[in-house]
Amino acid sequence: MLTRAKNILSRTLCIYVPLSLCLLCYMPFGSGGCEAGGNAYVGSDACMECHETEYKNFKTFAHKSNSFKTIKAMKKRLTDEEFRGCFKCHTTAYGEPGGFKSEAETPHLKNAGCEVCHGPGSVHVETGDPEDIDGQLTLKACETCHNSERVGAFHYKPLIYGGAH
Ligand code: HEC
Ligand code: HEC
Ligand code: HEC
Ligand code: HEC
Repeated sequence: MLTRAKNILSRTLCIYVPLSLCLLCYMPFGSGGCEAGGNAYVGSDACMECHETEYKNFKTFAHKSNSFKTIKAMKKRLTDEEFRGCFKCHTTAYGEPGGFKSEAETPHLKNAGCEVCHGPGSVHVETGDPEDIDGQLTLKACETCHNSERVGAFHYKPLIYGGAH
């Protein structure tokens, strides 16, 4: 009963919070003031039907598509807080509105999916319009996770086309 109520609450929040944020932005600032407002994270499976090739390549070759398994294998040796510290990079959009919360609540976002590079995809999934998704990426899109500390530790800096599809 309680979980059901929580589910309904979070669904309601998911739908109405971005919407009302958008309305708020649109009123004083006009369009463009709230680009992320109506856009939510949907997970990589939602991209499969239209981008079969990218989806298959990503699932087959990119370690990101299994990045939750990587951290889960180490969970026993970590405190809960340390484990949560892995989410920022090993899941999709942890700590962001509509992003990963927990394996039980948001299983579709538990790995670092398409949207860690291309941004939230719900609007694009509805419209199929390339204008609605970030397709022009620079290495800036990688640096939040492949930061200088990590590049130093792994002696590895990714190229823009690596690790995707
Ligand atoms: C309903 C079909 C559909 C779905 C679902 C869909 N796309 Fe697309 N997408 C398209 C079409 C059509 C294009 C334009 C033609 C192309 O590049 O394949 C496109 C283009 C793109 C581009 C290139 C954009 C550019 O600027 O050129 C990216 C990146 C992209 N999609 C990512 C995604 C991601 C990530 C998802 C899942 C969150 C997704 N798509 C889901 C139809 C879809
Ligand atoms: C949300 C965090 C995040 C972002 C953003 C990100 N990565 Fe990664 N990337 C990871 C994680 C986590 C792994 C390791 C996954 C594992 O092994 O569990 C990884 C692994 C890789 C690898 C290793 C080989 C492989 O097949 O996975 C390459 C290459 C890579 N990323 C390239 C990129 C590039 C290029 C960008 C930017 C366009 C990027 N990444 C953006 C988190 C991120
Ligand atoms: C700042 C982002 C970030 C955080 C936080 C992070 N990781 Fe990663 N992790 C990466 C990236 C990026 C890679 C891919 C290797 C590289 O280029 O650094 C990776 C790779 C790994 C790998 C090697 C996977 C392989 O396929 O060889 C393991 C294991 C791993 N991480 C475990 C963890 C654990 C456990 C935590 C939490 C305690 C954690 N990571 C926190 C970004 C991060
Ligand atoms: C590690 C970052 C990364 C991830 C994860 C990623 N992509 Fe991409 N994607 C890119 C880059 C880089 C390009 C090329 C952009 C450019 O040409 O400037 C691209 C281009 C695309 C395009 C345009 C056509 C093409 O192939 O060049 C589509 C469609 C696309 N991605 C869909 C997806 C889908 C679907 C997923 C998940 C299954 C995904 N991407 C995951 C980095 C990523």
